[in-house]
Amino acid sequence: MPCSGWILGRRMISAKGYDNVSTVDSTQEGRRDFLYIATGAVGGVGAVLAAWPFIDQMNPDASVLALSSIEVDLSPIEEGQSITVKWRGNPVIIRHRTPKEIEESKQVPIVDLPDPEARNANIADGAPATDENRVVDGKEQYLVMLGVCTHLGCVPIGDAGDYNGWFCPCHGSHYDTAGRIRLGPAPENLLVPPFSYLSDSKIRIG
Ligand code: FES
Repeated sequence: MPCSGWILGRRMISAKGYDNVSTVDSTQEGRRDFLYIATGAVGGVGAVLAAWPFIDQMNPDASVLALSSIEVDLSPIEEGQSITVKWRGNPVIIRHRTPKEIEESKQVPIVDLPDPEARNANIADGAPATDENRVVDGKEQYLVMLGVCTHLGCVPIGDAGDYNGWFCPCHGSHYDTAGRIRLGPAPENLLVPPFSYLSDSKIRIG
């Protein structure tokens, strides 16, 4: 089934600090602005990621698949804004969460979560899906996760759904402000990929 969510309501813009970046700014109601970015690539491939085809994102070419890791500067991402970068052929969502979003997430009891596991590649398997276990300690404002629905792989829409997080329109999965599945057929929380901080505002994914 086509990933209709990926092409809904999107247009190209320019954003301060980025040449090619996809962004979602929840502070401007009804607006979803997208550009496409890769701030850097390592692992023997020097080319910066090119514009991301809307439709072909499920069929990355070999050169993209070869990218083992990318570096992303978080500093231009304003509070309430998300960007999407491409890593190993998959979209990775990076959101600068608001204090309200963080607090909402922290208030959710684990027993209310359909998937109680953190699904975070950076911590132990089976760790509980607390808000703290979905982010890096001291950097809880930045949520980094694969933008791939855990049901059948569509790309969820940001700033949408019943839990003010992400919504997958393919079959109606709702994710919360920590990317945890709350309602719908998706079996697992959105996956947190392996990443680490290189500096206060730069991460390496992969
Ligand atoms: S692929 Fe997302 S709900 Fe089915």
